[in-house]
Amino acid sequence: MQNLGIKFPYMIAPMVGISHVAFRELVRSYTPSPIEALRFTEMLSTRKLPSEKLDLTPQLRVSEGERFFIPQLLGNEEKFIGPSVKKLLPLSPWGFDINMGCPQTHILRHNWGVRLMGDSAYAAEVVRMVKRHTNIPVSVKLRGGADKDIDKNYLLDFTAALEDAGVDWLTIHARPRAAKHEGPANWDIVGEVAQARKIPVIANGDIQTSADAIKIVRDYNCAGAMIAKAATARPWIFWQIAEDLGLNGAPPGREGERAPRTPEEEGREFHRSFLTLIDLVEQYFGTGDGVEEYGMQKLRFYAALAAKWFLFGHSFWRVTTKAKTFQQMREGVAHYSETYTQEMYARI
Ligand SMILES: Cc1cc2nc3c(=O)[nH]c(=O)nc-3n(C[C@H](O)[C@H](O)[C@H](O)COP(=O)(O)O)c2cc1C
Repeated sequence: MQNLGIKFPYMIAPMVGISHVAFRELVRSYTPSPIEALRFTEMLSTRKLPSEKLDLTPQLRVSEGERFFIPQLLGNEEKFIGPSVKKLLPLSPWGFDINMGCPQTHILRHNWGVRLMGDSAYAAEVVRMVKRHTNIPVSVKLRGGADKDIDKNYLLDFTAALEDAGVDWLTIHARPRAAKHEGPANWDIVGEVAQARKIPVIANGDIQTSADAIKIVRDYNCAGAMIAKAATARPWIFWQIAEDLGLNGAPPGREGERAPRTPEEEGREFHRSFLTLIDLVEQYFGTGDGVEEYGMQKLRFYAALAAKWFLFGHSFWRVTTKAKTFQQMREGVAHYSETYTQEMYARI
């Protein structure tokens, strides 16, 4: 197992509708300085990217000086991949990732996403396509299985083909395609693949707590851990991990404080973090007629995912669906947090 070339190998996953600049900044605001942790963008279609404008497309927005982000590319044709990489390079990403795990039907129709796992030679060629256009690290995010089950031998062969093609590192979502994003993840298989590969392998799937993330790196040969859904409920998870690893530092403005830990502390912090997220969404996606609804949709979607970790999560989500403006949402959330204590489950 090689090291990823970054001191803190814990990262936030690509999630459509979630991993936008406002969420990445929320996570960053909870990351103890001087730690820098990788944060993926949501998947970006290479068919669309060449004709999109960096400053006008919300999914392509980055924060001032943002360097530790990884755009995730969706595609399989060099005539689109080349110009897409060229367009994004001026933003100074830390690396590029290629999506080989998305199970959605419209993605499969184009032979993108997890469909690429069906043809290792072609998948390897897609890696070469991206590598031909950049010198920064190129990774692939794939699944434990391209169909109903996890097939260890296939996974070993497939990842060997990507390694031979020059991919710099891999993330394995330890669920087969049929499981989508739910249910138990098979960390053992990721550990076995990690042991067989020379390049770093990152584990993803059902990593919900700091203890999960640390365990997967310590006990499963993995070079790092990637967190997806749980980071919406617990955007301060890097703060907890850093503390548990005995690293010094606190998030900006939180010097001298400990990371939230108890169900009540985490519940209270969630309200606070959601109010910060509303501010960030307003800052990055704007306000006003017709514009505000885009950000409101992002916030409602986020609340729906995070709500699963809370005893009264459904009622919280309802509050976000009733609001029509950012201001109404702020007031609704503030009122809700005065009325209900939101206890957070460690795992769901
Ligand atoms: C709403 C949502 C959107 C997602 N979008 C992407 C995506 O754009 N690209 C990708 O590779 N995976 C995507 N995923 C999968 C996650 O990155 C991750 O692999 C999966 O949720 C498992 O991790 P978890 O158990 O920590 O949630 C998405 C998952 C969710 C829930």
